[in-house]
Amino acid sequence: MFAFAKAADSTEVPLAEGASRSPRAGAAISLDAVAFSFDTGASIEAHLEVPAGQLVCLVGPSGSGKSTILNLVAGLLTPTRGRVLENGAPITAPGPERAMVFQDAALFPWLTLRKNIEYPLEVAGVSRAERSDRSEALLRLVHLHRFAEAFPHQLSGGMRQRGAIARALATDPAVLLMDEPFAALDAQTREILQAEVERIFLETKKTILFVTHNVREAVRLADRVVLMGTRPGRILRTLAIPLPRPRAVGDEHVTALANEIAAEIRTEVEKIAKEEADDAWVVPGAPVRVDPRRNLGGGI
Ligand SMILES: Nc1ncnc2c1ncn2[C@@H]1O[C@H](COP(=O)(O)OP(=O)(O)OP(=O)(O)O)[C@@H](O)[C@H]1O
Ligand SMILES: [Mg+2]
Repeated sequence: MFAFAKAADSTEVPLAEGASRSPRAGAAISLDAVAFSFDTGASIEAHLEVPAGQLVCLVGPSGSGKSTILNLVAGLLTPTRGRVLENGAPITAPGPERAMVFQDAALFPWLTLRKNIEYPLEVAGVSRAERSDRSEALLRLVHLHRFAEAFPHQLSGGMRQRGAIARALATDPAVLLMDEPFAALDAQTREILQAEVERIFLETKKTILFVTHNVREAVRLADRVVLMGTRPGRILRTLAIPLPRPRAVGDEHVTALANEIAAEIRTEVEKIAKEEADDAWVVPGAPVRVDPRRNLGGGI
C-alpha cells in the first residue's frame, strides 16, 4: 500500500493497494551557524536544529529571513557561511526529498488535479500504474478524490492549496517546506486547512517547516515556534509548544500562548519602526490580551 495511512475519518475508503515503496520518514534539518548575504547587502543569520518529524513554524516581521531560510533548506540558495544539513549531510542542491508549497498554489491550470499530482512522478519516470495508485492515495489524503478530474479554476482556493500539498507530497519528500501557504485564504478556510495540515503531519510523520505571519496559526500547528527578528534577519528565540494533538479549533491554550508571543513580536516590530522613523513612530495595534490565569509560555 502506498505511503500514507488511511485517513482517520472512518467514512474514507481504504487506499489503493499495489504501490510498492514504503514511506520516507521525516528528516532532521540543521542550520549550523548559517549566514547568507544577498548582493544588495541584506543578510540573515540562523542557527537552528529541527529534529526529524517535527513541525516547526517560523514567525516574524517582513524581511526577517523566513523565506530565505526555507530557500536555504530547499537548496535553492547556498549559505555564505556555515552549513545546511539534512540528516547530517550537507544540502547542496534542490531535490525531491524536500518539497515546497507556496502561498499561490501554482498548480498547472491546463492539467486536472490528478494530472497535477502525477506530474512530478512522471518527471521522475514513475510508471503509469504506480502514478495512478499514488495520485489516488494522495487525493484521498487531502480529501479531494471526488475532484480528481477537476481543473484548478474549478476548485476553491482552499481546495487548490490542498491540491498543492498533495502534489508536494507526490515524490514522498522527507521535508515539507511551506511558505505562508494559507495567507490568501479566508479565516474559516484557513482553520480547516490548519487541521488538515496537522492531520497530514500526524499521518505522514514528515518534518515540516511552516512560515506564517499569523502567530495563532503558528501556535496552533507547531511543536516549536521560531521567532525571527530583522536587520539582520535572525532567530530571536525558539519556543516549545507543549500542547497535545490534535489541537481543537479555538483551543484556549493556543489563544493564550499566541497572545503572549504576539506581544513579543509587536515589541520587535515597534523597535524597527522607531529606528526607521527616528523615534517619532508609534505602531498602532490592538491591545494584546493575555489570560492571566494561564502561565503557558511564562518566561517567554
Ligand atoms: N532576492 C533578493 N535579493 C535581495 N535581497 C533579498 C532578496 N530576497 C530577500 N531579500 C532580503 O533579505 C532579507 C530577508 O528576506 P526574506 O524574504 O527571507 O524575509 P521574509 O521573512 O520571508 O519576509 P516576508 O514576511 O515579507 O515574506 C530582507 O532584508 C529582504 O529584503
Ligand atoms: Mg517571505
